[in-house]
Amino acid sequence: MPFIASDGAIGINYCPMTESESRMQELNTAGDAARAGGEVLVKYFRTGVVADHKGDSETYNLVSIADVEAEQAIVEVIRRKFPDHAVLGEESHHDDVQSEHLWVVDPLDGTNNFVHGIPHYAVSIAYYHRGKPKCGVIFNPSRGDWYEATADGGAFHNGQQVRVCDSGTLDEVIVSVGFYYDRGEMMEATLAAVRDLFYAQIHGIRRFGTAALDLAQVGCGLFGAFFEYQLSPWDFAAGVLFVEEAGGRVTTCLGEPVPLQKSDLLVSNGKLHEQLQGIVGPHLPDSMP
Ligand code: IPD
Ligand code: CA
Ligand code: CA
Repeated sequence: MPFIASDGAIGINYCPMTESESRMQELNTAGDAARAGGEVLVKYFRTGVVADHKGDSETYNLVSIADVEAEQAIVEVIRRKFPDHAVLGEESHHDDVQSEHLWVVDPLDGTNNFVHGIPHYAVSIAYYHRGKPKCGVIFNPSRGDWYEATADGGAFHNGQQVRVCDSGTLDEVIVSVGFYYDRGEMMEATLAAVRDLFYAQIHGIRRFGTAALDLAQVGCGLFGAFFEYQLSPWDFAAGVLFVEEAGGRVTTCLGEPVPLQKSDLLVSNGKLHEQLQGIVGPHLPDSMP
């Protein structure tokens, strides 16, 4: 509001944004950025892409021009709105994760599906303030599936609020799993944990190949749980908020808080968490590749 001071000068009352107003700005920006990234992905998904291997040791870890271009499009949107915010993006943005304002971006989660023409992939974008997730969007542009969450504001799938499933026993649920690219100790450990889950009488195991969407499905109550022995922060930054806002629980496989760095991950509807930890925890390999 403009006002006239005693010396006749005209001033303007500075009215700081409320927390919910700034959250809305961040969520809108995450949404705009996810749409921009999604557009790039759909363009390449239609025409097909040639994928490259990421480094010698990870022969199965693919990257394509779509990953790189989508990340550029996403970061452009974020920087236009918040030029001084930091970005941790899988492909080419590695700002300090301790930054007060941090955007964590996986421009294409599920690259392997993408290059094989399987329409199960997503853009994942999260905004963290002082190390805490404040909002996140996961978007599968081929299917038009939109998942978003804000801290203390709930989790929504295509506009409908969602909750984790209510099952209290493992013999009522499907569990989803991810395999890191390693074809050694970590793969063997994951298979051993899967075997023990089957013996615990779960309904089934699913491996869909897009961690962000796996987390979204736990939040939507389709899977009772998800675990993977190694993920990167961009794989789970938006998904962990989504699961927690849907009433679920997120820890490492040993039940510790999940750091914003390479980590193993166990997410569940909460009620099943300790039983699952007792199965997947003991198989966790000591070393990470
Ligand atoms: C991968 C997917 C996959 C998971 C891998 C991730 P990318 O991400 O989320 O489901 O099992 O560990 O690296 O490489 O497709 O972005
Ligand atoms: Ca990923
Ligand atoms: Ca990726």
